[in-house]
This record gives sequence, structure tokens and C-alpha cells, in this order.
Amino acid sequence: MSNRFTNRINMLQPSATMMVIKKAANMRAQGVDIISFGAGEPDFDTPEVVIGAAVKAMENGKTRYTPGSGTTSLKKSIAHKLKRDNQLHYEPKQIVVSNGAKHSLFNACMTLLQDGDEAILFSPFWVTYPEIVKLAGATPVYVETIARNGFQISMASLEAAVSKNTKLIFVNTPSNPTGAILNKESLKNIVAVAKKRDLIILSDECYEALTYDEPHVSIASLPDAYERTITIQSMSKVYAMTGWRIGYTASSVECANAMAKFQGQATGCPNSIAQEAADFALSHEHPYLGKWRDAFKERRTYMVNALNEIPGFETLMPKGAFYAFPNVSAFYGKELDGVVINSSLDLTNILLEKAHVAVVPGGPFGADDYIRLSYATSMENIIEGINRITKLMNTLS
Ligand SMILES: Cc1ncc(COP(=O)(O)O)c(C=O)c1O
Repeated sequence: MSNRFTNRINMLQPSATMMVIKKAANMRAQGVDIISFGAGEPDFDTPEVVIGAAVKAMENGKTRYTPGSGTTSLKKSIAHKLKRDNQLHYEPKQIVVSNGAKHSLFNACMTLLQDGDEAILFSPFWVTYPEIVKLAGATPVYVETIARNGFQISMASLEAAVSKNTKLIFVNTPSNPTGAILNKESLKNIVAVAKKRDLIILSDECYEALTYDEPHVSIASLPDAYERTITIQSMSKVYAMTGWRIGYTASSVECANAMAKFQGQATGCPNSIAQEAADFALSHEHPYLGKWRDAFKERRTYMVNALNEIPGFETLMPKGAFYAFPNVSAFYGKELDGVVINSSLDLTNILLEKAHVAVVPGGPFGADDYIRLSYATSMENIIEGINRITKLMNTLS
């Protein structure tokens, strides 16, 4: 049967995060007490007022198709939000509402990339980026960033990766998986190269309000960036609405129209009830953002300091999102019960099987020296999970 599948589907990599979550769920179903640091979503519930807005929407008959790229009311609320929080001036006609930021990224790539094109990804990158680029027929080109420099971007490394086929540069700040925030210099370097080589910037800002030491800066707010940037944000992480599936792009009208045309034929409108809920959320004050941010910051600081106490773990203090990303390559070549650890996947499997702790390997993020631990879980779980990891790592020869 699989020989009937397209090359497109056969070359696609399944999501690394999903694979770990599945394996951990199987072990849990067999009664094993697993601590999971795999989650890519907040452990908080969607605010009740937002749920109330959705219930009201259903009662008021907002249960039909909406315009393909989203309701005018939601687009107005998004434009208002972008101005209020990100100093970005967009008109509702520049907004396209989709089924999550992942869908927005897919729309943008299907609209702007085709066979022979190249898209630049900074590694470590979010696992989905290369797959979406390949689905659009284009080739990902990787620019390595390193922990020693806080995963910042130099003009020279970016320029070296640009060719006559480059169309797009992916930017993700705060980053999944590193939790790093791109500083002004990195952002300026990206804009300078994009301007010089006439490239489009795809700015994935789905963790934008989850920063702990400094405010988020949208790259489109920098001089020369606005006209060549597609800004992508999401309700998923900031409002704990991962299952509602609402994300959006803000771009030039021309680009918004092209992406809306694609979405109109591919999926049609996003869920009408979720749109109403998002409209309510964005046009009112977030009831819990401060509280959630404080909780994430406390967990982050505990987790990173505790990880750095383990000899061999090297973890940068992340500035945003909810992931710690330790370098664990010091363990490569070491052995446990006759199994030699040679990769992030080997270590992930050992942590799951021997310590009953689920983490995500860094390999699929383009960083095999690392593993990713999400701190979107209770402090109690974090303390217990890190204790388990510490005990196991201390037994490694
Ligand atoms: C960097 C990044 N972009 C996009 C997404 C997708 O978010 P959404 O739920 O809005 O599709 C995620 C989710 O994990 C992410 O980490």
C-alpha cells in the first residue's frame, strides 16, 4: 500500500515530540509512573471567561461558516492587539486567521515557496519548519547558532547561507527549543540581509508574551522590516488555547490576499466558535498572564539551576517560552547497563526507560548535542523529575 503514497508523504518526518509523548503514554498505560517534560503546551486551563465567550457564541448561533480568512471583528481585534502589545500597525485586511500558527506557517510557505527555492532556518529550529519547507517543494538551508553566543545571529553566517534561490528567512523568538530571545543586533542583522537580498522574513512569534527578563520585540517593528515581514502569532501558548486552533498572520495586503486564496481552497474558515472566543480574549485584558508568567519564571529558574548541578549538563538560562535546552554531549560515549549513549535519542530513551522521565531529543531540532525539557508542568513534577535524572546520571560510568 505505501508504494501508492506520494514522495511528498514518504519524505515527511513524524513529529519527534509526538513520538516521545506516545511512548510515555504507552508506559503510563502499563502502570509506570512517568514524569513528563515533553509537553509543548501550558499546563494551565483556558481562562474561564474565554470559555464563557465560546458558550455564548454557540448559544447566539455563531456556528456557521465565516469568511475564509476569519471574521472582520476578530481581524479588528487582532489589529488592535498588534498595535497595543507589539507596536505594529496593521489594518484588518492585512490579517489572515488560520487553524493555529502551524497552519499560518503552512499557508505562508505554500504561497511563497516552490521547487528550486531555498528557505533559511536557524538551527536549533522548531521541528516542523524543515518539513513544511519540503512540503512546499523547497529546500531548507541551515545556519547554525551556538549556545556560547546565546543562540544569536551573525550577519556573516547569514550572508554565507543566502544564494540566488533564497526566498525566505524563518525567525522564531522566543525560540522553541532553546528559549532564547533574539537581541536587537541579531534582528537588525536579519533585516539588513533580507533588505540587501530582497528576502521575505517569516516571523514566528507564538511565544511572544512569554518572556521573563525583557519584553518581546517584533522584527516587523524595526526600520526596513515591515514591508518584507509576515508576522505570525497564536492563541495556543499565551492563552492556553492549544486545542482551539487559532493563529494568524499579519503581512502586506498582497500577501494576505494570496494566503487567504490558498486557505479558502484548502481548509476554508477556521472554527467559528474558536474565532469568537479568540476575539473576546484579544479585546479584553488577559486575566492570568502575569500569574502564569511568574509561575513559568519560577519553574524555569529552579529547573535550569538544578540541571546545571548535574555534572555534564550545560544549560543556558532561557529568556522566554517554556523550555530548558541542556547540552548533554558530555555523556556521549558513556555506558549504562551495557548500552552506549551516542545521541540525544539514546539518552532520551535511557531517561524514559531507566528514570521514567520523558524528555525530547534535540536531534530533530537540528541539535543532537541537546535534549529539550518543558517546564510547563507543576513544580512538584519538576523537583521529582530532576531528582530522578540526577540519580540516574550519577550512575553513568
Ligand atoms: C515555534 C512554534 N511555532 C508554532 C507552533 C504551533 O502553534 P499552534 O498551536 O498555534 O499551531 C508551535 C507549537 O509547538 C511552536 O513551538
